[in-house]
Amino acid sequence: MLRTLQRLVASDRWMRAVGLVAGPFHPWHPDVRRDPYPTWNRLRETAPLVRVRLLGAWATARYDEVERILRDPCFSTDRSGVPMVAAMRRATEGSPDLLNLFDQNLLMIDGARHARLRGLVAKAFTPRRVAALRDRIEAIVDELLDRAAQRGALDVVRDLARPLPGIVIGELLGTPPRDRDTLTRWSEELVELLDPLSGHEGIEPPRRATVAAAAYFRALLAERRAAPRDDLLSAMLAAEENGESLSEGELVALCTLVLAAGHETTVNLIGNAVVLLLRHPAERKRLQDDPALLPSAVEECLRVEPPVQMTDRAVVAPCELGGIALRPGQIVAALIAGANRDPKHFPDPDRFDVGRSGERHLSFGLGSHFCLGAALARLETQLALGGLLRRFPDFSGAPEPPDWRRSAVLRGPTALPIALG
Ligand code: HEM
Repeated sequence: MLRTLQRLVASDRWMRAVGLVAGPFHPWHPDVRRDPYPTWNRLRETAPLVRVRLLGAWATARYDEVERILRDPCFSTDRSGVPMVAAMRRATEGSPDLLNLFDQNLLMIDGARHARLRGLVAKAFTPRRVAALRDRIEAIVDELLDRAAQRGALDVVRDLARPLPGIVIGELLGTPPRDRDTLTRWSEELVELLDPLSGHEGIEPPRRATVAAAAYFRALLAERRAAPRDDLLSAMLAAEENGESLSEGELVALCTLVLAAGHETTVNLIGNAVVLLLRHPAERKRLQDDPALLPSAVEECLRVEPPVQMTDRAVVAPCELGGIALRPGQIVAALIAGANRDPKHFPDPDRFDVGRSGERHLSFGLGSHFCLGAALARLETQLALGGLLRRFPDFSGAPEPPDWRRSAVLRGPTALPIALG
């Protein structure tokens, strides 16, 4: 069943045909991949909650409903009661490492279990640890841009947005630099778990990557247990609260999640930010004239082109949302990207305004699952964008990238060649 759906999604021609009958929510359609916002707008205008016929789920693109889903305990990240997820979980039973990732990671558990795990991680992944990376990130950005200057050409995705978060997350965790390419490959395969329908080879690539990453982190954790260093791995091993610490399974699941989340989201934010500056020369000039706008410009990029377009929650108690009665076991997609352009909360929502302030976008989520790496992603993107504008103030390029990544959940250009000016 999963394989058949994957084949359909992999074929743009089929997807066009399926799009005709799929209803208003159809994130894999090639036109939606290029520009999803008219679809999210239509969804928002249609109803507070829309039935997704293709998947038997519900979806909302309204700010108030997305906010409620992210905050209300009737909606949970524990999706074990959802029939489709239970079937996927059963399919992983032959692989203890994949099962561990399903059962022990922050994004799949909730309530007291989640609070305990999150509390312990927060002791290791501190704001101080992130702030201390500023000089190092600046140096990495400089190095990457130096190489571009020598070559006289830059593909923003290949040469800046992709390597930067990979180097940073590796140094933060404490993985040896020689393993960088392997870790990048694993993280690319791991994120296919977020949207298994977009993959071409079924569950096999993420399964393979999970098993390899688990063995890798178990060995590295053993090394750090014997000889701690000043890195996140050692800090997570040492984290303790009320006499409790992280188990081996929890540590491995956390390392794997941080590896993938650290790589695969920030790359999109940096790519999307440069696309937005290319599309909006007047806003780019405003930012170049006043670099103090950099933090608000990055927030506006997060709002207008969110790297994570949607998340979902399982209904775990009977409840009502947007006038629809929901029952446990149903799944609801929360369209962050639609909520961020809800005119009820953002005046003139489609306008890109680097100085916009006011209501909060939902691009890092909300509530107990709010993104653990938000501060790091913001810092990396501000420094990458600031460096690019300073070093190559006259860079130019097409306002649209050649293609966008093939994922319903993650949005970012696959390549972005620019002339350095
Ligand atoms: C632009 C970059 C990023 C974006 C847009 C982003 C987005 C998100 C979102 C939307 C969530 C919440 C998902 C949900 O509630 O279902 C989340 C959670 C999370 N993010 Fe990020 N993220 C980014 C960067 C990072 C980085 C750099 C790291 C790690 C270094 C990270 C680690 C995590 C973790 C561990 C969670 C799970 C938190 C929990 O469930 O308690 N993220 N992220």
